[in-house]
Amino acid sequence: MIGIFDSGVGGLTVVKEIFKYLPGKQIIYFGDTARLPYGTKGADFVKKYSGKTTGWLLNKKAKIIVIACNTSSAWAADFLRSKYKGVPIFDMISFAAKDVIINTKNKKVGVIGTPGTIKSNAWSDRLKKLDPSLKIYSQACPLFVPMVEMGFTKGAVTEKLVREYLKKIKANNVDVLVLACTHYPLLEGVIKKVMGSKVKIINPAESTAKEIKKYLKENPLLAKKLKQGSGHKFFFSDEPYDLKEINRLCFKKKINPIINDPFDD
Ligand code: DGL
Repeated sequence: MIGIFDSGVGGLTVVKEIFKYLPGKQIIYFGDTARLPYGTKGADFVKKYSGKTTGWLLNKKAKIIVIACNTSSAWAADFLRSKYKGVPIFDMISFAAKDVIINTKNKKVGVIGTPGTIKSNAWSDRLKKLDPSLKIYSQACPLFVPMVEMGFTKGAVTEKLVREYLKKIKANNVDVLVLACTHYPLLEGVIKKVMGSKVKIINPAESTAKEIKKYLKENPLLAKKLKQGSGHKFFFSDEPYDLKEINRLCFKKKINPIINDPFDD
């Protein structure tokens, strides 16, 4: 199985891309709804629970791990790789960063994410390593997550807020914008309208799903070990109040959430 984890329901946008690029591969999902949001927590907290969740998914026979949560990807990816050596762990930054480099012509790049993701500098560090001449404009957009969860993915109010948050990035004439948070792809329509059609939007979930597909082609033995079928499992550490809405926006598949907090001590 492919193990996928997030702080809550937003990771379903990543599941959507996995289903698209790896149809038939069975997944096990864990959303830490008891402890969300991760986006405003400190690095140690995010590392601790990302570590526990990864261990839990591996115990449930996940053969590869996808860190769907962008904040966990920013704070905890290196930590997880050193803690679980030999496990293929895919984060939302490594492969998407390469797509940024391929797509930017004017070398001006915008990155939007949670306060934690932006504060970590994980994105700018990664991009600068790939191309030191890049100019990176980052912006935390903390109101986007609750807005999406309440179903505000289009309309006047949403557009006003998106315009406000993207003002500086737009003024700097970026030609690539990274949606570095699970919820932001659900705002893509409005973000495109605000940024204009010339700006390339990068959805890290899509870049990562493509990369996993490539990786499995190169590792057929591992690919064989991943179960086929529709018996996906969706675990949450607490009742997700917004599952229906996010599910409707993502893929309209029926999800039977299993509520279980393995870290409740
Ligand atoms: N899943 C988180 C992320 O992608 C957003 C929600 C949260 O803050 O927990 O960063």
